[in-house]
Amino acid sequence: MKNIVILISGGGSNMAAIVRAAQQQDWQERHGIRIAAVISNRPGAGGLALAQGLGIATQVLDHKAYATREDFDAALAQAVAAHDPALVVLAGFMRVLTPIFVERFAGRLLNIHPSLLPAFPGLDTHQRAIDAGCKVAGCTVHEVTAELDVGPILEQAVVPVLPCDSAQTLAARVLEQEHQIYPRAILAFLRCGEDGQGAGASCLR
Ligand code: GRF
Repeated sequence: MKNIVILISGGGSNMAAIVRAAQQQDWQERHGIRIAAVISNRPGAGGLALAQGLGIATQVLDHKAYATREDFDAALAQAVAAHDPALVVLAGFMRVLTPIFVERFAGRLLNIHPSLLPAFPGLDTHQRAIDAGCKVAGCTVHEVTAELDVGPILEQAVVPVLPCDSAQTLAARVLEQEHQIYPRAILAFLRCGEDGQGAGASCLR
């Protein structure tokens, strides 16, 4: 069985899209892929109730309870490793991870970012795209490396930026695409190697 652990901080709509895709497409029966747990660094994250409603085990590790970023990441790494994950999925997880965490899960750590990387790493991506006069925007699934929003790109989707767009309307249009590409990229990542060809991200690079 290939276990997935999903890390969230907020509403969890990407997490829910992944769980629903796994359930609807029967990933467990067909591919031996199971969503083992959803872990949030924020006790109030809306995604926790959403995950529970979808039948997924949840856990909270409040980063505020730890003195340093390293302490939090050590505890998080332990909680994640307890599920023996084939893949760790960041889905709106709003903490920068330390190199020690990233190295421990290197090659099995994915993120989705709401811009067409390498454009607009970091926060406030939609307003920055509008301010720059971009005609298109989008989202990127990428491997996580020690540097923020820079790892190898695995999948992208493009949406138009409309003249009437606000950051909110653009974000909503991009989010719809996030929900399409993230489950697809995760399935392709985990199925890679089934036919003896490649492994992990090599199928998507
Ligand atoms: C998404 O736009 C994701 O790309 C970004 O934060 C947002 C999280 O949304 N990193 P949700 O929690 O998945 O609803």
